[in-house]
Amino acid sequence: MFANRLNKNLKHLSRWLKREHIHCYRLYDADMPEYAIAVDVYEGSDYAKQRWVHVQEYEAPGSVDNEKAKQRLNDALTAIRHVLAVKDQQLFVKTRRRQKGRGQYEKLSTSKHFHQVIEGGIRFLVNFEDYLDTGLFLDHRITRNFVAKLAHGKRFLNLFSYTGSATVYAASGGASLTTTVDMSKTYLAWAKRNMALNGFEGKEHEFVQANCLEWLDKMAGKRRYDLIFLDPPSFSTSKRMDTTFDVQRDHVALIENTARLLSSDGILIFSNNLRRFRMDRESLSGFTIKDITKATLPKDFERNSKIHNCWEIRRP
Ligand SMILES: C[S@@+](CC[C@H](N)C(=O)[O-])C[C@H]1O[C@@H](n2cnc3c(N)ncnc32)[C@H](O)[C@@H]1O
Repeated sequence: MFANRLNKNLKHLSRWLKREHIHCYRLYDADMPEYAIAVDVYEGSDYAKQRWVHVQEYEAPGSVDNEKAKQRLNDALTAIRHVLAVKDQQLFVKTRRRQKGRGQYEKLSTSKHFHQVIEGGIRFLVNFEDYLDTGLFLDHRITRNFVAKLAHGKRFLNLFSYTGSATVYAASGGASLTTTVDMSKTYLAWAKRNMALNGFEGKEHEFVQANCLEWLDKMAGKRRYDLIFLDPPSFSTSKRMDTTFDVQRDHVALIENTARLLSSDGILIFSNNLRRFRMDRESLSGFTIKDITKATLPKDFERNSKIHNCWEIRRP
């Protein structure tokens, strides 16, 4: 049954995958309640040989019999190996627990195995073993394209940049300079490697290890950017931060502080993954805010329309 569903999804997506040259995509997302997993396919430049499958098992509610759940996962993995023609070493399985804040970015292992994958002709390094996330958020594929299209000749700022994928898109779209800010040394180094992999190594590309909230305060009035991508975590706390960050509670201040660095006709793209997020338009009435969530939701995430919310923000 599960193999049938994978084949059906493959068939449903195949034309679109070909037409759009998509090589990293979500094939299955808990479509059948008894198989509560997400299946993501990643391909490298030699598609025939370089294919990896990243499976995330959603944590089962306490009511589910553990043995049964294990058996079902095993059945699903057998089907995946068969339908997607992958061997054990190309298949990675994780359990996704509900986590808040720091736990999400903590290490699972230290394999340091990186694989090169292709998205929109751009190369990215992903890691299937060491962290919960791979380094490339597939649901933001369209958003990244949007960044590239807007970036030509623009000064680009990427806040909470993670592995810098949006920066690579901005650079490939012809941004005149880029600034990539993240608090984590590891992710910033990863962002640098992603940029270098695509030939962006010049001085016009700056990487800053900082708490974005403090950095924004420090830079107010000193810098201007024409295009800003702001994709904060839903919740964040760290050894280096005295306070917590909560996107629902703090988004008004964050957007206002970010907008202080925006040129007069600049564009701020703001996004987050909080499923119940509500934009406080009233408090932000000084801005023009366009909800671009639907337009940035790729076909392979249609069944999970709350995966992210996304907004284009300008000064009137
Ligand atoms: C892009 S955000 C969140 C991505 C995605 N929206 C999510 O919720 O999983 C993740 C990144 O934010 C960084 N980060 C978290 N809090 C931060 C802060 N206060 N300042 C700078 N970077 C921060 C983490 O190091 C990580 O690279």
